[in-house]
Amino acid sequence: MKKALITGITGQDGAYLAKLLLGKEYKVYGLVRRIVNRDFSNLVYLGIEKDIEYIDGDLTDEASLIHVVKTIRPDEIYHLAAQSFVGTSWDQPIVTSEINAIGTLKLLDAIKHHHPSAKFYHAATSEMFGNSNFDGIQTEDTPFHPRSPYAISKLFAYWMTVNYKESFSMFCVNGILFNHESPIRGKEFVSRKITDVVARIKLGLAKDIKLGNLDSKRDWGFAGDYVEAMWLMMQEKEADDYIISTGQTHSVKDFLDIAFKHAGIDDWSNYVNIDPRFKRPAELFTLQGKSDKAQKKLNWKPKVNFEELVKMMVDADLKRLKK
Ligand code: NAP
Ligand code: GDD
Repeated sequence: MKKALITGITGQDGAYLAKLLLGKEYKVYGLVRRIVNRDFSNLVYLGIEKDIEYIDGDLTDEASLIHVVKTIRPDEIYHLAAQSFVGTSWDQPIVTSEINAIGTLKLLDAIKHHHPSAKFYHAATSEMFGNSNFDGIQTEDTPFHPRSPYAISKLFAYWMTVNYKESFSMFCVNGILFNHESPIRGKEFVSRKITDVVARIKLGLAKDIKLGNLDSKRDWGFAGDYVEAMWLMMQEKEADDYIISTGQTHSVKDFLDIAFKHAGIDDWSNYVNIDPRFKRPAELFTLQGKSDKAQKKLNWKPKVNFEELVKMMVDADLKRLKK
C-alpha cells in the first residue's frame, strides 16, 4: 500500500486530494497543526475524516517536520499547507513568508536529509504571474511578476522546489494551479463569499453583500478536477512543472450574475455594495491559463465548467443553510 502525506489536509484541496487517494487505496497521513479549535469540517463534508491518520506538525517548526518525514517515510508528499489568502498577505507578510516560503524550504530540507526518495508536490500558483499576460493567456513560459506578499512567498517556494530537484536529484514538482473552488472553499474567497450570501439572501437570512473589485477576472475551475492533476504529476517518470487551468476567464460580475440568477434573483446589482476594504493594494486584473502541456502529457482535462461550478456551489450553500 502506498503512503501519502498531505500537508494542509484540513483545507479545501487537502480534503479533495485525500478523498481521491483513499479511493486509490493509499494510506493517507494528514499533517495538522495545533490550534484551539481544530476544524475537520471539510473532511466531514466529504465523509472521510475517520479514514485519515493525523500527525501533529507545523510548517514553521522544523523539528516537527523532520519527525513526520522520518516516522512516516511517505512515498508521496503533497505539500498544500499555506497561508493561502492573498488579501491577508499584505497585513501579515511575515507570517505568510514564514509559512509559505521558509516552511516549504524546511520541509524540502527535511526530505533531503531523511527520506530523499519521496516524491514531492508543491502547490504553486497562477498568482506568481501577476499581470504578465502575454497574448492574453499564461503558459509555463510566461515570466513571473508576483504582486502580493503571498505571490512572492510562493515564488520563493517554487524556485526552491526546482532547485532541490536540480541540485539533489529529488523528484520535486510544481503544480501551477489557477483558481479552483468548490462547496468547501473558504468563505473569505470571493466565490464562496458570494454563493454563501446568495443562499442567505434567498432564504431571508441576509440583505446584501460587500465586495471589492468586480472587474477582476479569474480562470475558475473545480477543486475536485484539480487534485486529479496533482496525483497525475506525481505518477510521471520525470518530475516537471505544469499549469492547471480551464483556459476560460470570467469576471466577478459574471460570477455574481450566474449565482444570483441560479437562486432565482434577477438583478444582483440591487444587493451588492462596493467596500474599499475588500480592494487590494495591487490587483491582478486577469488570469487565464493554458493547460495544454498537462492535457497532452498527463492526459488531464477539467470536467466541470464555470457555470456548472457556480451552480454547484449555490446549491450546496442553499442545502447547507436549509438544514
Ligand atoms: P486552504 O483551504 O486555505 O488550506 C490551507 C491549509 O494549510 C489548511 O489545512 C491549514 O490548516 C494549513 N496550514 C496553514 N498554515 C499552516 C502551518 N503553519 N502548518 C501546517 N498547516 C498549515 O487552501 P487550499 O485552497 O486548499 O489551497 C491549497 C494550496 O494550494 C495552498 O498552498 C494554496 O496557496 C495553493 N493554491 C490554491 C489555489 C486555489 O485556488 N485554491 C490555487 C493555487 C494554489 P488549518 O486548518 O490549521 O488552518
Ligand atoms: N476575497 C475577495 N473578497 N475577493 C474579492 C472581493 C471580496 O470581497 N471582491 C472582489 N474580489 C476580487 C479580488 O480582488 C480578486 O481579484 C478576485 O476577486 C479573486 O479573489 P480571491 O477569491 O480572494 O482569490 P485570489 O485570486 O486572490 O487567490 C486565490 O487564487 C490563487 C490562484 O490564482 C487563492 O486561492 C490563492 O491561494 C491562489 O494562489
